[in-house]
Amino acid sequence: MSPRDHISVAAPATVANLTVGFDCLGLALERPLERLDLKRTDTPGVQIKEIIGADLPMEVEHNVSGMAARSVLNTLGVNWGVELTIHKAVLPGSGIGSSAASAASAAFGVAALAGADFRPHELLPMALDGEQVASGARHADNVAPALFGGLCLCLPDGRIDTLPAPDWHLTVVHPQTVIKTAEARAVLPQDVPMPDALNQMARLGHFVHCCHAGDAMEAALALEDVLAEPHRIPLQPHFAEVQAAAMQAGARAGGISGSGPSSYWISFDADTAQSVGQAISDVFLLKGLDHHVHVGRIAQQGAHILDTPA
Ligand code: HSE
Repeated sequence: MSPRDHISVAAPATVANLTVGFDCLGLALERPLERLDLKRTDTPGVQIKEIIGADLPMEVEHNVSGMAARSVLNTLGVNWGVELTIHKAVLPGSGIGSSAASAASAAFGVAALAGADFRPHELLPMALDGEQVASGARHADNVAPALFGGLCLCLPDGRIDTLPAPDWHLTVVHPQTVIKTAEARAVLPQDVPMPDALNQMARLGHFVHCCHAGDAMEAALALEDVLAEPHRIPLQPHFAEVQAAAMQAGARAGGISGSGPSSYWISFDADTAQSVGQAISDVFLLKGLDHHVHVGRIAQQGAHILDTPA
C-alpha cells in the first residue's frame, strides 16, 4: 500500500456472542456498513471534523474513532496527523457493534492512509484502544469481526481464530430503543452453576465442529445460550413475539445480537430471510416501535478501503 493524502474506508456491523459464544464469538454483517473519511494533516494528532448520524463526543479522548486513530498514529510514530469525518451508520446502543465499527474503521483507516501494511491481528490492540472508550473493556467479539470479516472466535489470550463461516442468510432487526451494554451486563450473575458451564462448553465445541464440517444447519441448531440470554430477555422489546414471528416465518435459529436490543435470525435462503424481516417488522409496527431491518450474508470482508473516496 502507498501513503495517501485522503482515504475513505468502511467497517461492517457485527453480531457478537452469536448466542452460543458469550463474549468470544462474533460475525461480520454485509450491512449496515460504517464509513469513515480520513484526511492527512500537517498538525500532528487526531482532529474530529464532523460526526454525521449520531450525537457522539467530538473530543478525541472520549471518542472511539479518535482514540483508535491516535493509537495507530502513536504506533507509527509519524509527525503528521489525521482529520476524521465519521458517518455513523451503525447506531450507538444498537447491539450490532457500533463502537467496534468506529474503532475498526479508524484503526484500519489511519494505517491505510499511512500506507502501513498492518495485518488485522496487528491492528486489533489499536482498535481495542478505541473500543475501550465506549465499553470500558477490551472485548474483541465485535472488533475482531469488524476488522477481520467473517466469523471470529476470540481466545482469552487475545488471539483470534477465524472459523469457516456457515452458509446462512441473516435477518437483523434493530428496534429503535437503546440498551447500554453496561446495563445488559449488570443483569448477569457473577457465577454460573457447573451444569450450565458444561452445557455451554459442549454447545460451543459442537458449533465450532459444525463450522469446520461445513454443516450450516447443525451449526444453527447448536445456537443455544444458558449463560446470558435468559437473563437479558426481559430487557429486550417484545422478544417472545419477535422470536415466535421469526420462527413461524421460517427462521431456524437466532437470538439477541450482542447485548441487544437488535436480534438476529438465521434462514437458509434469501426469500425466507426477507419474510422473517417482514414478520418481525409486523410485530414492531403493531407495537408502534420504529425499527430497521437488515438482510444479508456473513460478510467475508472486514474493514476495507472504499473505491469511491469523498
Ligand atoms: N459480548 C458483549 C456482551 C457484547 O454481550 O455484553 C457487547 O459488547
